[in-house]
Amino acid sequence: MTFVLGIAGSPRRGGNTELLLDAALDGARREGAEVRKVVLTDLVFSGCTSCDGCRDGQRCVLDDDLQEVYGLIDGADAIVLASPIYFEGLSSQMKAMIDRGQLFWYRKHSLGLEGKKRRGAIIAVGARRNADFTSALRPAKIWLLTLDADMATLTYGGFEEKGSILDDADALEEARSLGHEMVAKRNIH
Ligand SMILES: Cc1cc2nc3c(=O)[nH]c(=O)nc-3n(C[C@H](O)[C@H](O)[C@H](O)COP(=O)(O)O)c2cc1C
Repeated sequence: MTFVLGIAGSPRRGGNTELLLDAALDGARREGAEVRKVVLTDLVFSGCTSCDGCRDGQRCVLDDDLQEVYGLIDGADAIVLASPIYFEGLSSQMKAMIDRGQLFWYRKHSLGLEGKKRRGAIIAVGARRNADFTSALRPAKIWLLTLDADMATLTYGGFEEKGSILDDADALEEARSLGHEMVAKRNIH
């Protein structure tokens, strides 16, 4: 069964980011996938300490709540990152998780290990109607490439208040379709 992992990067539980991610995971579930949502703000973990302990590609030596997430990432056939825009970038929770992916970077680029090909997506939401998502999407894209994932992108500007995305049925439907497609068109490589 296809396993889809969703990673929510907003500290505001039940906010726009999580609502969009829930819609995407719902779309994947309806297509028959097993889904799992990780909410970073509920976890206790630090950023990368640049200790180089993962240079051998085995594991991150930091013993915190991300250890379980590494296992979920390794097993995922599709990964959906979801983050609010903070100062034109990703939330610090999401960026810290991405930086902890240095393990995956060593595996791919230093050790030349091929990971499994998978689907990837980033959903980002910001308050400014004409928000510029470029600098937020960049690290998410590099992270997904490191994991041998492709990258679909959904961005939504003009949503500031908690839950305001619920007023936009098209946005939620689009996220649902994304989840559906990630499972239905799983074998793209
Ligand atoms: C610290 C902080 C920084 C923000 N910076 C931006 C920004 O640079 N551009 C923008 O469009 N919205 C910005 N916002 C607004 C959020 O991206 C927006 O409210 C979003 O809907 C929050 O998603 P959430 O409901 O999942 O938390 C910022 C919000 C916070 C709390």
